[in-house]
Formats: sequence, structure tokens, C-alpha cells
Amino acid sequence: MILRRYFADDFPALYAVEMHCFDPRFRFGKRFMERLIGNPQSATWIAEEDGVIAGFSIVTWGSDARCDGGYLQTIEVEPQFRSRGVAIKLLSLAEISVLTANTLSISLHVDSENRPAIRLYEKCGYRRRGRREDYYARGRDALRYVKLLDPVDELSLQSLGFGSTAA
Ligand SMILES: CC(C)(COP(=O)(O)OP(=O)(O)OC[C@H]1O[C@@H](n2cnc3c(N)ncnc32)[C@H](O)[C@@H]1OP(=O)(O)O)[C@@H](O)C(=O)NCCC(=O)NCCS
Repeated sequence: MILRRYFADDFPALYAVEMHCFDPRFRFGKRFMERLIGNPQSATWIAEEDGVIAGFSIVTWGSDARCDGGYLQTIEVEPQFRSRGVAIKLLSLAEISVLTANTLSISLHVDSENRPAIRLYEKCGYRRRGRREDYYARGRDALRYVKLLDPVDELSLQSLGFGSTAA
């Protein structure tokens, strides 16, 4: 599995992952996703195996984020690549990008019924900080999670060779 930054010609394959991961009612639109990826205060990380995109994460920070600090816009792994630690790696890389932008916290929203994602975030040190009713649709609440980032973690990941390519 290769972990790398996004290239412009990845977009069709990346958007195919979005279509496999989310029901049309909850998908990001193509234009919205292109804007997120093109935002200079964002980083998109790709996990690739044998030329196939297995998953990706998009994180933003600064004034365009939906709150102070970093904001995980999405993290998605193709069904056939799940439960192999791909999301854990993509999340670590998103956190490094936020830290490299001198931002010490990251937050996100997750569907209150999305058990695999909630387990991932709690395992990775995110703490629940609230609930927003009807955030995704009527009756589909969001949980808000926040993690305070530790620059020491960045150093240890850099020693594994990840930091040098972070935004
Ligand atoms: C949520 C999501 C991103 C998780 O992706 P994933 O790659 O399966 O997650 P990981 O493999 O990193 O971690 C999941 C599990 O694999 C385990 N794992 C990690 N490394 C592993 C390895 N090398 N071998 C086996 N299992 C491993 C983790 O411990 C974790 O276990 P648990 O969930 O049983 O506690 C994925 O389910 C997904 O894409 N869902 C649809 C999109 C979505 O809902 N995104 C979140 C939006 S908020």
C-alpha cells in the first residue's frame, strides 16, 4: 500500500470511491469536492494499491474550515480494503498536515449511526464534544468529535518518512 499526496488526474478515481462509500443523499457533489481539494488550506491524502485508489482523506484548516483549527472533511476507504488499517494511516496523515500548518486541534462531524467511523475516531483519540440534530437529513444527527494534536506525534511520524511530504 502506497500513501501519497493527491494529483489532479486522481479525481475520477477518487470520486468513484465517494460513490462506492456513500448513498447519493449523503454524497459530496463533484464541484464541492473539487473546491475542497483545490483549497490551498487543505490536504488530500491517497492510499493506493497496485494502481487502484483504496481510500483517501481530505482535511482543511484556517479560515475556510467549518470551525477553528483543522477540520476533517472526509475519510473514505473502498469496501474491499477495509479493516486493514488504511483509514488509521490516512487519518494520521491528515493530522500531520494540520500540525504542519501550525494548528493544534482537529474536529469532525460523523453520522451518529456510523459505527465503523465512530470506532475509528475514538480509537485514534478523538473525544465527543456534542451532537447536532438533523445535521445530515431529518432524523440523521451528527456527533462532533475533537482531538488536540501533539507535535511530538508529528516528529515520530516524520521519523517514519511521512512528514516530509505533508502540506
Ligand atoms: C470508516 C472507514 C473510513 C474505516 O476504514 P478502514 O480502513 O476499514 O479502517 P481501519 O482498517 O483503519 O480501522 C478499522 C479496523 O481495522 C483494524 N485494523 C487496523 N489495522 C489493521 C490490520 N493491519 N489488520 C487488520 N485489522 C486492522 C482497526 O483496529 C479497526 O478495528 P475495529 O474497527 O474492529 O476496532 C470505512 O469504514 C469507510 O470508508 N466507511 C464509509 C465512509 C465513511 O463513513 N467515512 C467516514 C465519514 S465521517
